[in-house]
Amino acid sequence: TINDVAILEVPRVHDERGLLAVIEKDTIPFKIERVYYLYDVPSDAFRGGHAHKELYQLIIPLSGSFDVLIKDGERSKTINLNKPHKGLLLVPGIWREIDNFSSGCVCLVLASKEYDELDYIREFNAFLSFKKS
Ligand code: TYD
Repeated sequence: TINDVAILEVPRVHDERGLLAVIEKDTIPFKIERVYYLYDVPSDAFRGGHAHKELYQLIIPLSGSFDVLIKDGERSKTINLNKPHKGLLLVPGIWREIDNFSSGCVCLVLASKEYDELDYIREFNAFLSFKKS
């Protein structure tokens, strides 16, 4: 459920030369099998609009900001991600819609599995049925 979705703070090393954020094996609760990133996203773009059956993801706004609307079939919540050391941990079975991208935004996604279209639920009604089953 939405209660399992958390903001994960990435540990940082800060000195006069700037900030260094580190993600290691034990920083996140899944094994990373894929990394991808969104960039050159038009400010009026709408992304997501699906859920995953098994995939865990950590979504990090490396630069800029965007909104993530999440739904678990009963409740919904919008989270504005705008700090490069604060990621959104998405567990399986969460519908997400992402919009309101700032210009120059870079969105990094760490994922627990390789790309598999069969893991996607792209119809909201199918998502609701999945949640009830
Ligand atoms: P999708 O996950 O729907 O994008 P978003 O959630 O950001 O709106 O993916 C968009 C397209 O890119 C879709 O045709 C599948 C493809 N794709 C890959 O080939 N590999 C990947 O790792 C991802 C995330 C997407």
